[in-house]
Amino acid sequence: MVKITYRRAMESDAEKIVAFYNYVGGETSYLSFEKDEYPMDVKAQAESIRGLEDNMTNIMLLAMDGEEIVGIATISSSHKIKARHDGELGIVVAKKYQGQGVGTELIRQLTEWAKGNGITRRISLDTRADNVKAVELYMKFGFIVEGCRRNATLLDGKYYDLYVMGMMI
Ligand SMILES: CC(C)(COP(=O)(O)OP(=O)(O)OC[C@H]1O[C@@H](n2cnc3c(N)ncnc32)[C@H](O)[C@@H]1OP(=O)(O)O)[C@@H](O)C(=O)NCCC(=O)NCCS
Repeated sequence: MVKITYRRAMESDAEKIVAFYNYVGGETSYLSFEKDEYPMDVKAQAESIRGLEDNMTNIMLLAMDGEEIVGIATISSSHKIKARHDGELGIVVAKKYQGQGVGTELIRQLTEWAKGNGITRRISLDTRADNVKAVELYMKFGFIVEGCRRNATLLDGKYYDLYVMGMMI
């Protein structure tokens, strides 16, 4: 079995991160963006990672197989005083590496980090209601379904509901 390592993103990872997101955008329909639709270019990604240095409430965590990115998980929070305790989680694992505990480990590490940063008290996310694997994974950590945004995703002429999920930490 391959050994996956976990570490925070560095500015020098920007090119690989953009390529990974653009690739997995085409591998799964569960992300908010399609193939090659990831909204950042390499320069913007590098700047964004630089902005994470010394940032208490935002993080990007990479799962690596050697030098290859196989999963990314993020927590993004507003800097506004009334909202900064609430971090939004994003996660994707490359298809080839799914079902081997990578997603679980990414969320475990992000949750530990969030509990220790002194500010984050809540983690939120949106997921398609039919994304059973993701919903099960989140529930395993204690997330609950707090609401449903009906027909919020439109894909190939079909509407899908989004669950709004959250947990206090
Ligand atoms: C959702 C995702 C991140 C999970 O990552 P992963 O590395 O495959 O997850 P794990 O191997 O750690 O499995 C985690 C849990 O998923 C659930 N799960 C996995 N396969 C499942 C299946 N076929 N049916 C139901 N639940 C399943 C289980 O709760 C499992 O925990 P367990 O092994 O302790 O029972 C990954 O499938 C993915 O990237 N999907 C595409 C992108 C996506 O959907 N991102 C989330 C958008 S909100």
